[in-house]
Amino acid sequence: MDRYALIGFPLGHSLSPQIHNAAFDFLGIEARYELLEIEPARFDKAISTMKKGHWAGFNVTVPFKERVLKHIDFLQDEAAKIAAVNTIKVDKNGNWSGYNTDYRAFARPLLDRAGKIGSCLLIGAGGAARAVALAVVQELNVAELCIVNRTPERASALAGWLMKSSSAEISVLPWNDLPDSRLIFDLLINTTSVGMGETSDRSVVDPLAHAHSATVVYDLIYNPAQTRLLQLAEAGGLQTINGSTMLLEQAAGAFNIWTGKSFPTPVLENLRNTLFNR
Ligand code: ATR
Repeated sequence: MDRYALIGFPLGHSLSPQIHNAAFDFLGIEARYELLEIEPARFDKAISTMKKGHWAGFNVTVPFKERVLKHIDFLQDEAAKIAAVNTIKVDKNGNWSGYNTDYRAFARPLLDRAGKIGSCLLIGAGGAARAVALAVVQELNVAELCIVNRTPERASALAGWLMKSSSAEISVLPWNDLPDSRLIFDLLINTTSVGMGETSDRSVVDPLAHAHSATVVYDLIYNPAQTRLLQLAEAGGLQTINGSTMLLEQAAGAFNIWTGKSFPTPVLENLRNTLFNR
């Protein structure tokens, strides 16, 4: 029985066990996926213990995607570029290979528009924003990227980091300047947590103030499936993408790395319906 786990803190609402176990069951693979909540203060010690255990692979989530890097034996190019790992495969010698499947998962629903999106507003500059920002300039070939974040230093740091690996025009806009800026974008992306939990009645931005009729609004949040931001965008006739696609695509990417098999399409469709009603 191969054992897989999601490492993070806290993990209360994670859908990953349901996603992976459904695929293992469908394909008759003898494997189980569980949640492994680790208190941040105990992280390095817990990882050292796990390295001696019998694990086949891991997913890594907040707040460990960067911290886990120093425990990785072989780092795949994309994970190295983003400096964050969300998937680990353990080989038969116990070595850990680190991957980042968030990067491609984010871009996937927009790939058919690659090269046609000229400008993008990226809201947020945390861990999730880094993989997203790099995919925006490198996979979608967006020429102009504007970053806004509540804490300006993080936006500047993200912009500085991106400029090293991209020739796109990257700018930072102060958080309070956005509403009156009248700036219009082809793509609006929310990578902040505004719109979930206690802030589920809020939209981080008024999408219609920064959109034209063909603007796409992408919210990384998947719970709720339709955030206030996406409700406003849809009410204004804009096309929207929610975080469920990225969640399922990053899981499918990890599943493929671990098993060498494609994530089964019927399971994907079923999960889309049962978990997200879409
Ligand atoms: P993740 O890995 O999910 O990106 P994170 O690194 O903690 O998590 O980043 C969370 C993002 O949401 C940040 O951009 C954060 O802004 P700050 O850098 O100013 O903290 C943003 N965020 C969280 N709560 C917010 C709020 N109430 N208003 C605006 N932005 C918020």
